[in-house]
Amino acid sequence: MTDHCRVCDAPISAFMSFGQQPIANGFHSPDETGDEYFYELAPAFCESCGTLQIIDQPPAEAMFHDQYAFFTRTSRSMVAHFGDYAAWVAENFVGGPDPFVVEVGSNDGAMLENFAKTGTRHLGIEPSDNTAAEARRHGVETLCAFLNPETAKSVVETHGNADAVIAANVICHIPDVQAIAQAIDILLKDDGVFVFEEPYLGDMVENTSYDQLYDEHVFIFSLRAVSAWFKPFGMELVDALPQGTHGGSMRYVIARNGARAVSPRVAELTARETELGLDKPETFDAFRTACEESRDGLVKLLRQLNAEGKRVVGYGATSKSTTVMNYCGIGPDDIAFISDTTPIKQGKLTPGTNIPVRPYEEFAADYPDYAVLFAWNHKAEIFANEGDYVAAGGKWITFVPRVEVITE
Ligand code: TMP
Ligand code: ZN
Repeated sequence: MTDHCRVCDAPISAFMSFGQQPIANGFHSPDETGDEYFYELAPAFCESCGTLQIIDQPPAEAMFHDQYAFFTRTSRSMVAHFGDYAAWVAENFVGGPDPFVVEVGSNDGAMLENFAKTGTRHLGIEPSDNTAAEARRHGVETLCAFLNPETAKSVVETHGNADAVIAANVICHIPDVQAIAQAIDILLKDDGVFVFEEPYLGDMVENTSYDQLYDEHVFIFSLRAVSAWFKPFGMELVDALPQGTHGGSMRYVIARNGARAVSPRVAELTARETELGLDKPETFDAFRTACEESRDGLVKLLRQLNAEGKRVVGYGATSKSTTVMNYCGIGPDDIAFISDTTPIKQGKLTPGTNIPVRPYEEFAADYPDYAVLFAWNHKAEIFANEGDYVAAGGKWITFVPRVEVITE
């Protein structure tokens, strides 16, 4: 069977495989170990439109449900980032009388709360019951649903068209990009905008951050891919702004053709993509080699440290880390436990690799010799907090942008 690009329908094939992978957020109790769902994580690059996508994806119900373990509010820096993001949207796109803002994948309402506080009409569309309930507790009006054309029509019937549809770290989760573009077309006013930010392909390639690829991240977008996606719908990319979040993201602004001036940043960043070779399949062959070298380097380092009798733990049981541990074959013999501050993950085992997730207090009470920085995208915040660990002789192991030991 030939696979086809979800954006342009051209035939595509995988340029590498990260092997069998479980649900990245599928932290499970020790008695559930035998029941895990696995799929092959294999990314493909579409030469026609430039979209990077994974070929197989588990069913949405297996990933987003009432046990979904990710709450935006657990990260103070992300809450601050969403405050800035909301203020930027409000300033640039939400000026008219009685404006209406919709967020796709509004999680626990950390972003929309900023609009709720100023009395702006808003609606979150969020498929996970538990996060939607948390959003409502913070005064954020939330519809528990997946975004599709039907949901969009019913929102327009009840609330009218939107000045801005916004999203963060969710659009790359949705395989049916055609349905999303149709839904956006239905939701937006004539001069409305769709603003979304997602992990950026340029950063992933430059930093060999292959852990951006996991079940929920079906796409890693680029300007070229996003432009190709909206073109058949009479919409265009009018702005793009690089972001430091999630290990390197891009904020995209889409509007109807001619409705908004196109920022010079679009041409500048597109030219940069060409310089990086993001339009060439050879770039992804080089990326595969870089991933293999990263894997071999990390495994060698962990085995060596364990052979020397060092105590090695992980820091941050991130979704991303599932790809790393399953691709590299890292297990409880390599990493004794992973420290994480999220209560719902504590006491569970990591997906596919069964490494215990322990409360942060266990890390702090008895520092290890080495900590693998799985939450590398929060490095600045973590290093600022963990001065005592380093002062006590603790060392960090990172693998992005390369495998290395950081002693400060
Ligand atoms: P994220 O990269 O998807 O935001 O996930 C970050 C995970 O790392 C989340 O489970 C919380 C955990 N974490 C810690 O345990 N300690 C920290 O200092 C930070 C920033 C995150
Ligand atoms: Zn394509």
